[in-house]
Amino acid sequence: MIKEVKKAIIPVAGWGTRSLPASKNVPKEMLPVYNKPAVQHIVEEVINSGIKDVIFITSKNKSIIEDHFDYNLALEWVLERQGKTKLLEEVRKVSEMINIISVRQKKQLGLGHAVYCAKDLIKKDEAFAVILGDDLIFNPVPGIKQLLDVAEREDMCVVGVMPVKRNKVSRYGIIKGEEISPNLYRVIDIVEKPKVDEAPSNLAVVGRYILTPVIFDFLEELIKNHSEEDIKEEIQLTSALQVLAKKRKLLAVKLKGIRFDIGDWAEYLVANLYFGLQDPELKEDLKEKINEFLNPSLILK
Ligand code: UTP
Repeated sequence: MIKEVKKAIIPVAGWGTRSLPASKNVPKEMLPVYNKPAVQHIVEEVINSGIKDVIFITSKNKSIIEDHFDYNLALEWVLERQGKTKLLEEVRKVSEMINIISVRQKKQLGLGHAVYCAKDLIKKDEAFAVILGDDLIFNPVPGIKQLLDVAEREDMCVVGVMPVKRNKVSRYGIIKGEEISPNLYRVIDIVEKPKVDEAPSNLAVVGRYILTPVIFDFLEELIKNHSEEDIKEEIQLTSALQVLAKKRKLLAVKLKGIRFDIGDWAEYLVANLYFGLQDPELKEDLKEKINEFLNPSLILK
């Protein structure tokens, strides 16, 4: 039975090569989106979905992510002495957001392998959420909550999908689905990064999943068959989800919300503008600047 999902796995162990050189020493997931790191937006989605236990799958140079969600007593002391009460509250709030468990993924063998690293922290009959540390979705009902409601009602594993432009399908896992009610699909197959003319739809899996421990069995099989030399061939979560799909044990929910893949520079920059334009103190200045950039003749020489 899928009920009372308490744990969310957030894989943050990847190399983040698309975000280099910015991500050389600062994890991609720590790049700021407006006034907080991307991963804090992710954690807020998890909390607003009713989950407080977070399992970070980390790697070398990523401990800064755990530090961000821990107390910084020296900083708190300074803020207190300076009477900066509002900032102090904000800094403390982040430290108290979640219970953290961290697991090292010692080799970056792919998302499927990253999720498998949490196997021993999940009970035998415990459903759990997976949410990617670089895929932001904003909506009054958080993405993970939209999936949880369906997973509990239907008692099935669920992935979140969103329509993408046809020319972008080759960046994603794309589902072949049968719509069983508005915005809800029974998944028949998932194709990882298909060519544009071979994609079964334009519905892409967007980094949110509610899964049960059965997925670890499928991942274990993939890991056993994976050759260590083949570093190009990642252990994909999609391959394990395909097994569920073939058994007709996987649903997909078309998520409501606005999405930014912060590993893509254009989307990263737009995510910052999206928040900036909502801040009354920044909005007018930002609009003026954007206007100037779009009409260079307005820039005073
Ligand atoms: P991505 O494929 O987008 O991230 O994985 P990446 O490999 O870090 O980035 P690029 O493609 O080289 O720019 C999605 C999420 O899964 C994590 C990443 O940290 C990211 O948050 N991930 C990926 C792992 O934790 N382990 C892996 O082996 C691969």
